Amino acid sequence: MQIYDLIGIGFGPSNIALAVTLEEKKQAGYHIDAFFIEKQPEFAWHANMMLDNSHMQVSFLKDLATLRNPASYFTFINYLHQKKRLQDFINLKTFFPSRHEFNDYLAWAASHFDDSCAYGEEVIEVLPEKSGNEVMYLRVRSRDRNNTLHERLTRSLAVGIGGKPRIPDCFLALKDDNRIFHSNDYLRRIREFSNVEKIAVVGGGQSAAEIFMDLHGRFNRTKVDLIMRARSIRPSDDSPFVNEIFNADFTDFVFNSTEQERSSLLGEFWHTNYAAPDLVLIEQIFNVFYQQKVVDSNRHRFLRRHEVRRADSLSQGIQFTLHNLNDDCDFSATYDAVVLATGYHRDHFQALLSPLMPFFKTLSVDRNYRLSATSQFKPAIFLQGACESSHGLSDTLLSVTAIRASEITEALISSLNQIKPSVTARAVSSLIA
Ligand SMILES: Cc1cc2nc3c(=O)[nH]c(=O)nc-3n(C[C@H](O)[C@H](O)[C@H](O)COP(=O)(O)OP(=O)(O)OC[C@H]3O[C@@H](n4cnc5c(N)ncnc54)[C@H](O)[C@@H]3O)c2cc1C
Ligand SMILES: NC(=O)c1ccc[n+]([C@@H]2O[C@H](COP(=O)([O-])OP(=O)(O)OC[C@H]3O[C@@H](n4cnc5c(N)ncnc54)[C@H](OP(=O)(O)O)[C@@H]3O)[C@@H](O)[C@H]2O)c1
Repeated sequence: MQIYDLIGIGFGPSNIALAVTLEEKKQAGYHIDAFFIEKQPEFAWHANMMLDNSHMQVSFLKDLATLRNPASYFTFINYLHQKKRLQDFINLKTFFPSRHEFNDYLAWAASHFDDSCAYGEEVIEVLPEKSGNEVMYLRVRSRDRNNTLHERLTRSLAVGIGGKPRIPDCFLALKDDNRIFHSNDYLRRIREFSNVEKIAVVGGGQSAAEIFMDLHGRFNRTKVDLIMRARSIRPSDDSPFVNEIFNADFTDFVFNSTEQERSSLLGEFWHTNYAAPDLVLIEQIFNVFYQQKVVDSNRHRFLRRHEVRRADSLSQGIQFTLHNLNDDCDFSATYDAVVLATGYHRDHFQALLSPLMPFFKTLSVDRNYRLSATSQFKPAIFLQGACESSHGLSDTLLSVTAIRASEITEALISSLNQIKPSVTARAVSSLIA
């Protein structure tokens, strides 16, 4: 069986950026056999939230390569050039392309690695491959859509599997009720509920706000309750000084802080990203409720300071017991469909790596995103997008993707050098040649 130098689990922006960096290293004479495994049948960036009029939330300059290497073939600007839209894009006068266009850019970049990515395979576990007392390789097991099991061996791993929908406790028992779904499934599922009477959207972040506006325009009869615990929707703060927390060098500052300082930084800047829609979107929602007042309509309700205490699956709909946090009282409401725009969690890599847990002392990573392991465990495992608590709020976003990919690449090369010196030897000889 071939032994890869690196297997990447997931082929979203994080691991595509890594593939790009490795490709540039290859052009410089290094040769690292990398392979990626992606569970979707083809590249797609949060496809079920690809709503009309949705835009990027970071500058296009925070693409897969620019911050690391502005001269890279894989920059967003070169993509525009290849697609013959560079001049037209300039005339748009924006830093924030549509999500449709950025998805097309990412798909264009991903298409250059079709030979080194298996689509339609979900990695289900990673096992240690031992030689004596030492773990030398990892066995990566995946399953394709025909239920066929695939196994590959690798010297190192880059886990870039994004977030997993966060389902509040009171909905867990209703997981088989298909009238309830997460924002992650929104476009795929919402078509089944055309012009139903009443839909609930739970949450107060960018996803909830986008979905509320989409439902308002999509169906002309459906009533929507937007339900959130907070007192008010707060805009994300992307003013320039605050935005410096997403600069690559801020990662050093966060990483070098104490645990207490890090968690206080996370708390202080939490609303730059989470539960924080764009101001323009908030203004659109305000306008919808204002226009309702003008025509004396009560079609939609904005239930702020409300918590879903209970959800019951009834034949006539999903019944909520809602708690009004201001008045400290309960009341009930019934919905034909419920969209949980309740965000994501990012600890599900632990389930994938569970057979390796005996080799990790803690689940901490070093500055280069490498999980710390015992001395008998030789493979390097890098986490992309699961290191917010140690590396800061930019970790789940595109902000540092290009830089992080190069930090991981350098750490990967140095780790491979210890077990397979030919990586550098080949590089040096080809540079001399
Ligand atoms: C709707 C939405 C819009 C966003 N917009 C922005 C934005 O404008 N700007 C910004 O900075 N951030 C944005 N984000 C944050 C987002 O996390 C990043 O944009 C980016 O997608 C992170 O890339 P990633 O590769 O780490 O994760 P993902 O993009 O989530 O990619 C992970 C990939 O891994 C695959 N995968 C998961 N598990 C497995 C498995 N077991 N086996 C094989 N494959 C697997 C998934 O199918 C997916 O393709 C947005 C998030 C959402 C939900
Ligand atoms: N166009 C775009 O670029 C775009 C679109 C969508 C998302 N995104 C990005 O994707 C990321 C996630 O955004 P998101 O809006 O999906 O999630 P989010 O920002 O994490 O917001 C989740 C919301 O759900 C609420 N919530 C969580 N658990 C709850 C519970 N148990 N009961 C009730 N409410 C609960 C939270 O409320 P509390 O605050 O009360 O916990 C919060 O309002 C962000 O980085 C965002 O910028 C980008």
